[in-house]
Amino acid sequence: MINGRAETNLGATVIRLIAIALISLGFGAAAQAQETNILAGVFTEAQAARGEEVYQAICAVCHGEDLNTVDDESPSLTGFTFNFSWNGKTLAEKFEIVRDTMPSGNPVVVNEQSKIDIIAYILGFNGFPAGDQELGLDLAILGQITVVPAP
Ligand code: HEC
Repeated sequence: MINGRAETNLGATVIRLIAIALISLGFGAAAQAQETNILAGVFTEAQAARGEEVYQAICAVCHGEDLNTVDDESPSLTGFTFNFSWNGKTLAEKFEIVRDTMPSGNPVVVNEQSKIDIIAYILGFNGFPAGDQELGLDLAILGQITVVPAP
């Protein structure tokens, strides 16, 4: 009998510990989600507007003024193609493609700040909300922001 009681107590303690662990995990996840949630507004309207200017001047010739491609080789940056190739990716991955390879054939003509501004423009164009903080160039932070379906 004494034994049975000790086991019950041990069981209760284990359950309590698991509950505490789950609760702290839950809080941790909530805090992180807030920091990195693309739906919470990860760029500003002003930033997207700056990005739009450079996009229209440099990128639209291939990717289209309305982000629907105008040639056979360049992918659209909106609609089905956008959903297909951006969902589940981080903004770091997308930024690195643009930083290292775009505009195709001459990636140095646009600086990194303008490139991240263009990412903001592409996100805004595709229905993601603006917020009150600009999207920065920090790859560690960009790597925590995962694209999900726009609202
Ligand atoms: C000369 C035509 C051309 C110009 C100008 C150009 N691109 Fe591209 N872009 C392409 C092609 C072609 C691809 C397909 C990938 C590849 O084969 O390199 C591509 C791919 C991309 C991709 C990857 C596709 C995706 O959805 O993940 C992004 C993002 C992109 N371009 C953004 C830009 C941005 C931003 C600019 C302007 C700074 C730009 N491109 C200018 C031709 C162009």
